[in-house]
Amino acid sequence: MTDILNSKKIDSFEEEQEISLRPQHLNEYIGQEDLKRNLRVFIGAALKRHETLDHTLLYGPPGLGKTTLAYIIANEMKGKIRVINGPSIEKPGDLAAVLSTLESGDILFIDEIHRLPRIVEEVLYGAMEDFTLSVIINRDGNARTIEVPLPPFTLVGATTRIGDLTSPLRARFGIAEKINFYSENEIADIVNRTAKVYNTAIAPEAVNAIAQRSRGTPRIANRLFRTSSRFFRFCQRKFNKSGFSYICP
Ligand SMILES: Nc1ncnc2c1ncn2[C@@H]1O[C@H](COP(=O)(O)OP(=O)(O)O)[C@@H](O)[C@H]1O
Ligand SMILES: [Mg+2]
Repeated sequence: MTDILNSKKIDSFEEEQEISLRPQHLNEYIGQEDLKRNLRVFIGAALKRHETLDHTLLYGPPGLGKTTLAYIIANEMKGKIRVINGPSIEKPGDLAAVLSTLESGDILFIDEIHRLPRIVEEVLYGAMEDFTLSVIINRDGNARTIEVPLPPFTLVGATTRIGDLTSPLRARFGIAEKINFYSENEIADIVNRTAKVYNTAIAPEAVNAIAQRSRGTPRIANRLFRTSSRFFRFCQRKFNKSGFSYICP
């Protein structure tokens, strides 16, 4: 049970399910009204000026919708998204390889950005600030730096630990938005939406029961929905003297 309620733990099966469940546009994203209002203004202004969106930092506990929002930002900006994970980028060269394939208007999503090694992070500074990539070339013992221009792009960073972000990195984000826990009503809306996506009928009492137990976290709500709907599909209710019990294959 504790695993079901742990929004940090997520396996590849669940990841796949989550991808199919993700809202694609801001108007399908439930709750976080202040954040959506801000993002609408920023996105609208950037599109109107034919510019890229400012670099955006999304922070808050796991399972609240940071990755989902990164994809939505890419959709709303009509850009392609490149996804990388902080801990998987070990050397400056790894990041340089990704940056050099970016195209104008792309969204570079770095998940768990607080876990980028410091030397990699330093490569990001120039890339974020003036869209240049500084490459050190070491030939015959002579090291020199060349600056390679990058196309304009938007970095979207996500972190569960805003306090672990260094201040130079934090300062380079024009937009920083906190994602908060959801109210029970909002979680109920998310469960109803999930049921619709899966084409499953669900009683309002069941929606409320899930909403009350989800700790304000969509990932947990969707997990409880999946677990309970699987249970009701496969298990039979058997009545006995003391009430009923479930027989599951
Ligand atoms: N505001 C929301 N509206 C609808 N579904 C959401 C919302 N936020 C999160 N979800 C769902 O919850 C799941 C987990 O969200 P995710 O973006 O992976 O969280 P995080 O990246 O913050 O850990 C996804 O499957 C997504 O569909
Ligand atoms: Mg995520």
